[in-house]
Amino acid sequence: MSVPACLLVIFGASGDLTARKLVPALFDLHREGLLPAPFAVLGISRTPMTDEAFRDRLRTAAAEFGSSPFDPAAWDAFAPRLFYHPADVSAPGAFGPLSTRAADLCEKAGIPGNVLFYAAVAPKFYAPLVAAIGSAGLAEPSEAMPGYRRIIIEKPFGENLESARSLAREVTAVFREPQVYRIDHYLGKETVQNMLVFRFANGIFEPIWNRNYIEHVQITVAESIGVEGRGDYYEGTGAVRDMVQNHLLQLLAMVAMEPPVSLDADDIRDEKRKVLHAIEPIPPELLGRACVRGQYTAGMSGDKPVPGYRDEKKVAPDSRTETFAAFRFTIGNWRWGGVPFFLRTGKRMGRAISEIAIRFRPAPTLLFSDTPCGQMESNWLVINVSPDEGIYLRFVAKAPGPDVCVRPVEFSFNYRETFGARVPSPYSRLLLDAMHGDATLFPRMDSVEAAWSLLEPFLSRWKSDPGADLFSYEAGTDGPREAEMLFEGTRGGWRSI
Ligand code: BG6
Repeated sequence: MSVPACLLVIFGASGDLTARKLVPALFDLHREGLLPAPFAVLGISRTPMTDEAFRDRLRTAAAEFGSSPFDPAAWDAFAPRLFYHPADVSAPGAFGPLSTRAADLCEKAGIPGNVLFYAAVAPKFYAPLVAAIGSAGLAEPSEAMPGYRRIIIEKPFGENLESARSLAREVTAVFREPQVYRIDHYLGKETVQNMLVFRFANGIFEPIWNRNYIEHVQITVAESIGVEGRGDYYEGTGAVRDMVQNHLLQLLAMVAMEPPVSLDADDIRDEKRKVLHAIEPIPPELLGRACVRGQYTAGMSGDKPVPGYRDEKKVAPDSRTETFAAFRFTIGNWRWGGVPFFLRTGKRMGRAISEIAIRFRPAPTLLFSDTPCGQMESNWLVINVSPDEGIYLRFVAKAPGPDVCVRPVEFSFNYRETFGARVPSPYSRLLLDAMHGDATLFPRMDSVEAAWSLLEPFLSRWKSDPGADLFSYEAGTDGPREAEMLFEGTRGGWRSI
């Protein structure tokens, strides 16, 4: 399906997200011939820069952060589509010259006027930016620039339930809901999209996908990196707002949702909202038993010594911001009643791995538990979201020989081995979807609200007691030991990272 021509206007164009994610993703799309024709990018931020300087800067970034070896000839064909306009969008009158530049670009490039805005700015600027776009009359098509107007807004959307609602009001005062694309790049990952196919296109998994067969579910997003110079953003955010409210709860929703009635964006998003809404709220007296937070101290990243979080740049020496968070939730519906869902994420952990691991109930009689060698293990179905994208099912088998020795073995599927292709960047997929007007993989406001509502009691608890549920862990480990406590009353513990 061809993508209609468009102008992509990126606010925050001199920032990290543009350099590390957006432009490398666009460059990938260009190489695969998937960008619309005609197409142009207009980058906006305060830093004074010419188009040429902007292109040079992004060339370096594309070479460093691109997903495949840098191709200079392809870059030279792509770069003339990148333009830059320095502007302080909070200054009165900034949008006049900006819209003239946008209209001019569209005319020269032959773009009939579709405009996709991307808010790649710090979250505190989302509301003023949207208001400024509205006041400049750019949120709706005009005679000079007809076609669609859409806006992609980065996460986190708000910093608690109230601020998310107030941001939603400010956004919908300017854009209608169908024009708003709240991005959660985890939903653009191939393995996450494959969840729908895996669950609903195969007949064999759905009958066992429930409390009768599944003992518990563990969702882990472990990172080996620290805060990477983003201390100022991270201090006010922390792992719960940065990762759990969005990426981890969206993964949970993909695992636990009911089959949608169709693949229509709203049918899928209705089911996601329902399941997020069905997560049982934690009563105040049990909050401390449902979450463990952590903050890393100095340790090792591979064979390199690394500082503790409090010694990172732009981090307060007595900071109580969590760099690790683990939760135990249950979903109060017929499919999942009583099945714990364990979620965990952290920076500076032993290894970078994102996975969804499903542990099945043991066989009803343990016939082989007293065999002379080997050990019984639970059956696990593991969806490796990254870095080694794939799915494996672990079971036990008899090792050859006269004795009955049981050994864990695996059926496995690996994306790269099976399809031989590199796994595309989630940003490529999501940018393309937004250009197509397909909102399926973008969280709707109701699920954003459901996620904030669930976390709200924890956030209030930590607001009044910033050190509550907070433990330390050494960089390069699996997180605070205290996180095991969440398994009380449940067989097993965290999988090692
Ligand atoms: C971002 C967070 O949304 O996701 C970062 O703000 C985090 O803190 C990143 O590092 C992780 O994404 P990925 O795709 O590298 O797992």
